[in-house]
Amino acid sequence: MNDDQLVILRIDSSMRQTGSVSRLLADEAIAQLHAGIPDAEIILRDLKAGVGHVNSAWREASLETTSSRSSEDRAILAQSDALKTEVERADIVVFAVPIYNFSIPAALKAWVDMVCRNNVDGATALSMPKPTYRKQALVILTSNHTLAGASDEFATGFLQHILAFLGCSEINIVDATGLADEKTVKLAAAHDKIKSICQHVTSQNISAAAE
Ligand SMILES: Cc1cc2nc3c(=O)[nH]c(=O)nc-3n(C[C@H](O)[C@H](O)[C@H](O)COP(=O)(O)O)c2cc1C
Repeated sequence: MNDDQLVILRIDSSMRQTGSVSRLLADEAIAQLHAGIPDAEIILRDLKAGVGHVNSAWREASLETTSSRSSEDRAILAQSDALKTEVERADIVVFAVPIYNFSIPAALKAWVDMVCRNNVDGATALSMPKPTYRKQALVILTSNHTLAGASDEFATGFLQHILAFLGCSEINIVDATGLADEKTVKLAAAHDKIKSICQHVTSQNISAAAE
């Protein structure tokens, strides 16, 4: 690990390993980003096995100051600390997100609750350090019928908000929703979009590194 090395974090949230469209599209995005930024460190975070859920003990531990936490508090927060560190280190975050019941998968929401530590109890924790708004996010959204932006689609609005809250200054969405109809056409459009977003993200990071 060196301080100049770019970090790409990939978050998978499909419960499927085999036949997962969001994973295939994310594979492509990661391959293109890696080709454009070969020195980048790539962190893989697969949520298919789930992550812990916040509970009362977790909340109390998170609201203690670092120095006043007991060893039990630190153990309770260990997974949250690890996931949060991955996000803090990331320059580029690729999310592979299938729509589950008109919204994001429960495992991804659990991940959000684990990493958004400075929003525990809303305003009470807002004195924690703010993120630096420098990250670029690429969200790959898939579904069978529910269309991105439709009135029954509750994933994109939430993701736009929470990714900005996590420090993403740029959020690019690859819309691969509604794959039950015209799957080939929609996947071709998603491939094109991934290519253009990855070219854009790569060129921005190469020029930033040269400054
Ligand atoms: C629990 C569950 C809920 C789902 N809910 C929806 C839904 O609300 N709307 C929809 O169009 N597709 C829904 N789907 C289908 C997935 O969004 C679709 O198959 C998606 O492409 C899965 O991504 P994957 O191929 O990466 O696993 C659901 C699938 C599962 C497993």
